[in-house]
Amino acid sequence: MENARNIAFKDFGKRDGMTTGQVADVFTKVADTYDEVWTTRNHRGHIYVAEGVADYFQADVMGFVRILDVGAGTGMLAEQLWTRGFRQIDGLDPSTGMMTEAMKKGVYTDYYLEFMDGHTIGKLATDSYDGLVAAAAFNTGLLPCAALLEMARLVKPGGLICFGIPHACFTDVKEYNNRLEPLMQRMELDGMWKLLDKKHHDDFYDNANPGNVFRYIVHASDVDVKYYVEKLCHAC
Ligand SMILES: C[S@@+](CC[C@H](N)C(=O)[O-])C[C@H]1O[C@@H](n2cnc3c(N)ncnc32)[C@H](O)[C@@H]1O
Repeated sequence: MENARNIAFKDFGKRDGMTTGQVADVFTKVADTYDEVWTTRNHRGHIYVAEGVADYFQADVMGFVRILDVGAGTGMLAEQLWTRGFRQIDGLDPSTGMMTEAMKKGVYTDYYLEFMDGHTIGKLATDSYDGLVAAAAFNTGLLPCAALLEMARLVKPGGLICFGIPHACFTDVKEYNNRLEPLMQRMELDGMWKLLDKKHHDDFYDNANPGNVFRYIVHASDVDVKYYVEKLCHAC
């Protein structure tokens, strides 16, 4: 248990080399203390993502636009969205324990026990969502680069994808180094999405860890995942 706490909350590098299932199990083991730990450490990434989403949708549509929260965890981001007026929020996360905690909050319509990693998630149709969010989900052992491609498939053209990434992750996380940013740019060059803006924040957690909240508008959902995965490999 102590080991799981260390891996979930402190020594993120230990997740490097773990299987996706092992990472999900780590989060299951710490799920009942997850909110308390991150509230104490002043986790703010989910608040900044929620602000970015609320700032995009008009107040009169918030009740019915469909939002998918990826790497949803215990629902800290969905709670923030709910407070701002959103009511149609689905969660997606592979951890059963995180889902159990999340469902106690009553903020999700559906919660999918799935990994997002670029494979097509069969139960979710193309263009299902008006918006997609992810907070604290880009880091060692969490979402791989290819997840961006499945995100774009799930959001309607004109819809919003909004996620936060601490600056250091672009270089410190092996999976992302020289890969994540080029993929984001390549997707834009190819007309799959367009950057609306990126907003800097000084403190994603621990009153430090600066990063950006990215807001992309989806333009196309017919994603040729194989093409992009090959490009990613060339960039390795
Ligand atoms: C640090 S938590 C973030 C939870 C929540 N978004 C928040 O802001 O508190 C990361 C979550 O990502 C989930 N996760 C890990 N790999 C994933 C993947 N490939 N697809 C979706 N979720 C994943 C974990 O199970 C965990 O619940």
